[in-house]
Amino acid sequence: MVNYKDLGLVNTREMFAKAVDGGYAIPAFNFNNMEQLQAIIKACAETKSPVILQVSSGARKYANQTLLRYMAEGAVAYAKELGWEHPQICLHLDHGDTFELCKSCVDFGFSSVMIDGSSLPYEENIALTKKVVEYAHQFDVTVEAELGVLAGVEDDVVAEESHYTKPEEVIDFATRSGCDSLAISIGTSHGAYKFKPEQCTRDPQTGRLVPPPLAFDVLAEIEKKLPGFPIVLHGSSSVPQEYVDIINANGGNMPDAVGVPEDQLRKAAKSAVCKINIDSDSRLAFTAAVRKVLAEKPGEFDPRKYCGPARDEMVKLYKHKIIEVLGSDGKAE
Ligand code: G3H
Ligand code: 13P
Ligand code: ZN
Repeated sequence: MVNYKDLGLVNTREMFAKAVDGGYAIPAFNFNNMEQLQAIIKACAETKSPVILQVSSGARKYANQTLLRYMAEGAVAYAKELGWEHPQICLHLDHGDTFELCKSCVDFGFSSVMIDGSSLPYEENIALTKKVVEYAHQFDVTVEAELGVLAGVEDDVVAEESHYTKPEEVIDFATRSGCDSLAISIGTSHGAYKFKPEQCTRDPQTGRLVPPPLAFDVLAEIEKKLPGFPIVLHGSSSVPQEYVDIINANGGNMPDAVGVPEDQLRKAAKSAVCKINIDSDSRLAFTAAVRKVLAEKPGEFDPRKYCGPARDEMVKLYKHKIIEVLGSDGKAE
């Protein structure tokens, strides 16, 4: 049993309280390799932004939970080495699907876990979330739950259609489950193809897809029911078209990849949304940089020569998100 406090990590309670009050959102960046983690920490140290490092069950299988835990512990030391005096770093399980997985993470030094019971019937979602909350809270680990279903792929859970969170359920759900934050569905989805072409219009000049707006009316209703309660937005990558273009120009094939426009995320960050999840954009930055180097230098075979530029590109991306989209810069001096 390892407690996250001994690793220099923090849970989300204070981060979220300040973010809700201050009208900004905490970045929740997924990681599964060293370069992503280095880039996240460098970007956060340079901007003094609190951060949530997210590990999905897929990442856990890919990289090994033990190694990821030690990487997060190392991240705190690395942050200090970079001159960040009081790093606020949370290690969070993303989309936990069983009590056992959440318990294993709590026991293993995670400071926050998500139990995603959104695909279960309502009462079962409450019961599972409550069980995780009761366990996690003994160790001061915070718990994120989900109500409503996002379209697309949520790890092993596939939801063909999204079902917006029903505002009339949120008070009952939050009260009875005891969760610390709630992920909602208002039109975002996971991955790099968030909207089908038939859901979008097309910009006549560029030919690019223009996505439909998020359901801000649903968000406003939820906020009214649960004033000040931390709300989480999954599937919040913007799918920067410059990365898609670089990928496509260098041997890739990602037609009609589209994300959530940044101005909508900026608007959400100013509301009760205090955690914004970003994974796909980092994958796109990484892949674009790697493809470019390998296309320009086909003889290159030293991974540092293409993972290095990929890391630099991710630092740029994370700083942009922190400063221009979430507004979390300077919130963890
Ligand atoms: O919500 C899903 C995250 O983007 C993690 O994706 O299961 O491919 O690691 P993954
Ligand atoms: P994106 O696929 O939009 O980056 O969403 C990531 C996410 O929600 C992780 O839980
Ligand atoms: Zn998610």
